Amino acid sequence: MKEAILQYLPADHPWRSRVLWFDTIDSTNTRAKELAAQGAAHGTVLIADRQTGGRGRLGRSFQSPGGMGVYMSVILRPQCSAQELMHLTCAAAVAACDAVEAAVGIRPGIKWTNDLVFGRRKLAGILTELVLLPGECCAVVGIGINCCQQEDDFQGEIRDMASSLSMVTGKTVDRAKVAAALMEAIFRMDQALLPGKEHMLEQYRADCITLGQDISLLRGEEVRYGHAVSVDDEGALVVRFADGHTEAVNSGEVSVRGMYGYIC
Ligand code: BTN
Repeated sequence: MKEAILQYLPADHPWRSRVLWFDTIDSTNTRAKELAAQGAAHGTVLIADRQTGGRGRLGRSFQSPGGMGVYMSVILRPQCSAQELMHLTCAAAVAACDAVEAAVGIRPGIKWTNDLVFGRRKLAGILTELVLLPGECCAVVGIGINCCQQEDDFQGEIRDMASSLSMVTGKTVDRAKVAAALMEAIFRMDQALLPGKEHMLEQYRADCITLGQDISLLRGEEVRYGHAVSVDDEGALVVRFADGHTEAVNSGEVSVRGMYGYIC
C-alpha cells in the first residue's frame, strides 16, 4: 500500500521520503509522539493498515480494523509557540474535508471540534497532541478516516453513529488515493498554518454543522444545554445559555451532542 500511496504523490513532494508504513501498530499517534521526542523530522508521516489501540479525544478509542480505513499521524515542528497553535485541530479538520472532497468528491461537515460527519454519521476523527520538548513546539496530527466499512463492520454502540466513504458514495474507495490526498492537504495546511489562519477559520465555520444548533455540552457527568453561536479565533465553541450569557468552551474539556442524539 505504501507504493500505491507514493504513486499518487508528486515525484518531488517534500514529505515523500518521510512516509513510514505499518501493517499493524497500537496507535500511530503514540508512535509518532515517541519518534518526535527522538528528533524525527518535520513532515514525518506514519500510516497504518490497522491499529490495535487507536485513540480518540477524551480518552475514547477509535476502531481501526485492517483493510478498512486510513489511519495517519503527521509530526509537525512549526516555528511558533504552543499558544499560537490553538487552532491546529480546526485546521486539520478543514484539511481532512479538503482531502475527502479531492479523493471521493463529497465534502463532509465538521461536528465541532474534530469529527467529520456526513448524513448525521461520523466519517472521521482527528486527535492533535502536543509533544513537550525543551525549547521547541512539536505537534502530532492524527486522523482516522473510515473508508471501506459497511454498517456491520462497526462494533458496539458506534454502529448507529458511524459511516464510511464507501457507505456514503456507494462506491469502492481507494484507500491509497484517500491517504495521498490527506498527506497533500496536511502539507498545504502546514504551509498556511499561521499566514492562512483567518481564511482557514472562515472555511471551518462554513463547514461546521454544529453552529446555529441547540446542543448539549457534556463535561464528565455534567450536562448543560445551550445554543452554538460561533467558533472563536482559538477554535473554542461560543455557546449561549438560557440566561443569555455566553461562554467559549474548550475542546479539551467538553464534548458536544445534539439535543436528542450524536448530531441533533
Ligand atoms: C476521535 O474520534 O476523537 C479522534 C480519532 C482519531 C483517530 C486517529 S487514527 C490515526 C491516529 N492514531 C490514533 O490512535 N488516533 C488517531
